[in-house]
Amino acid sequence: MQGRFITFEGGEGSGKSTHARLLADRLNSLNIDVVLTREPGGSAGAEIIRHILLSGIAKPLGAETEAILFAAARDDHMRATIRPALAAGKWVICDRFIDSTRVYQGALGNVDAKLIRSLERVTVGDDMPDLTFILDVPATVGLARATRRRGKAATDRFEAESIEFHQELRKAYVAIVESEPKRCIIIDGRAPREVVADRIWTTVEQRLHPGLERLAAETAAP
Ligand code: TYD
Repeated sequence: MQGRFITFEGGEGSGKSTHARLLADRLNSLNIDVVLTREPGGSAGAEIIRHILLSGIAKPLGAETEAILFAAARDDHMRATIRPALAAGKWVICDRFIDSTRVYQGALGNVDAKLIRSLERVTVGDDMPDLTFILDVPATVGLARATRRRGKAATDRFEAESIEFHQELRKAYVAIVESEPKRCIIIDGRAPREVVADRIWTTVEQRLHPGLERLAAETAAP
């Protein structure tokens, strides 16, 4: 059986990486095989491109070139990591995916939506995520969390953008959920961690795998 494909999206400090990991752990505890991965990166070739993108050296080439580089990384990631895992029946959980390109390069970088869609067709094709969580926190909250976490380390290419940038980013994510409500769901990332994790779990249970709760109960039984 083909596995399930879940992506996590959100701005800086929204908690998406934490919740991607928590969901992977919970699925693992039910003996479901999970590949936890991230973008840009997640395969050898894509990690090289990640380095180029996050260092900021590609920034002078413009948002369109950056979108093409993210797509090149995604293509390698799909071929080397995601498709083989799904074909083997594993669940794939990916921290950031196509919606990051739509939002960062598309809505905020003004890259033509047609180009973004063409890149999606070439890289992802029919292997779209089954479910996408968009973790939503106000820009000020997210940036404060990201700053605390970073400590003295330098900001990366995208973290260095302004508060207005992050507010726009949030709006663009909301627009995606409105246009694709079947695939996407917004989760309020300000709630306590356990509450957010439970909402995510309930959504997976309802949308992807009715019966997960039963499996959980059986696994927990002595
Ligand atoms: P990363 O260090 O993975 O941080 P986080 O996901 O916790 O924010 O940085 C990835 C950065 O790349 C992030 O600022 C968003 C950006 N990005 C894009 O601009 N377009 C994309 O398609 C992807 C996948 C990421």
